[in-house]
Amino acid sequence: MKLADRTILITGGTSGIGLELARQLIALGNTVIVTGRDQAKVDEATRDVAGLQGIVSDVSDPAAIAALYSDATGRFPALDVLVNNAGIMRNLDLNAGRDLVDLTREIEVNLMGPIRMAQQFLPHLKTRPNALIVNVSSGLAFVPMPVSPVYCATKAGMHSFSQSLRVQLRGSGVTVVELAPPGVETKLFRGEFEKETKGMKAMDPAELVRRTIAGIEAGKQEIRPGQSNLLKALSRLAPEVALNQMAKMGQTGH
Ligand SMILES: NC(=O)c1ccc[n+]([C@@H]2O[C@H](COP(=O)([O-])OP(=O)(O)OC[C@H]3O[C@@H](n4cnc5c(N)ncnc54)[C@H](OP(=O)(O)O)[C@@H]3O)[C@@H](O)[C@H]2O)c1
Repeated sequence: MKLADRTILITGGTSGIGLELARQLIALGNTVIVTGRDQAKVDEATRDVAGLQGIVSDVSDPAAIAALYSDATGRFPALDVLVNNAGIMRNLDLNAGRDLVDLTREIEVNLMGPIRMAQQFLPHLKTRPNALIVNVSSGLAFVPMPVSPVYCATKAGMHSFSQSLRVQLRGSGVTVVELAPPGVETKLFRGEFEKETKGMKAMDPAELVRRTIAGIEAGKQEIRPGQSNLLKALSRLAPEVALNQMAKMGQTGH
């Protein structure tokens, strides 16, 4: 599957992996539209990357997804690739009291968002030849890092949802690819995990995106660069060892 002359919508494309993906895909001759919740960040991204289009939209809001669908398919009827990339990751201590609504915020953004986006855009994607949905999960989909329990649950959920979606779309002409990045040097990686990631070397976003594009073009269904591949293997060969190793990162102190 060639990624050229495509029209690609990337959720959460105003920074990190999404923005780098947009940069490289534009350089390959694609039309790229990114979303994000913040108008100023959307403006900054479209200023920085020549040719990039931007639309403000929150993937955790079903009404915003419906509005994004009308806007994006109206202005870009050739849209044939959806990248479910937007995500948040928090350091959550389950031993501390928490507001019950706030507690599940990652589920709304990282899991409900992509499920709703896929459902909303599917009728349109089915009309386009060789359409593609890329779901961004994580190496943490295979082995959780307990210091970020809700996030890891959403990524395991994204892995499962991607498998089912792929099966249900067999014969529809829509390909489903899961990208499970390892630690990548972005705001999300260091954000609330300064202590846990101290001294750790993460993958450069440009390297991740090069490997992602190569993986999609080579026809891979699941792209697991670097440590993500190791985590998947360990989750099968030595799941307890893998979990204990991940548990050492950011002991909660309880
Ligand atoms: N970095 C890593 O180590 C790593 C590893 C594995 C998987 N991933 C996954 O890769 C994806 C991208 O992460 P990143 O590292 O590039 O993070 P990032 O630099 O923090 O970028 C996240 C992007 O998502 C947007 N976003 C957040 N909430 C949103 C919402 N509700 N609606 C729409 N957009 C939203 C952000 O913009 P606004 O905040 O302005 O909305 C931003 O553009 C995520 O799904 C993440 O889980 C990252």
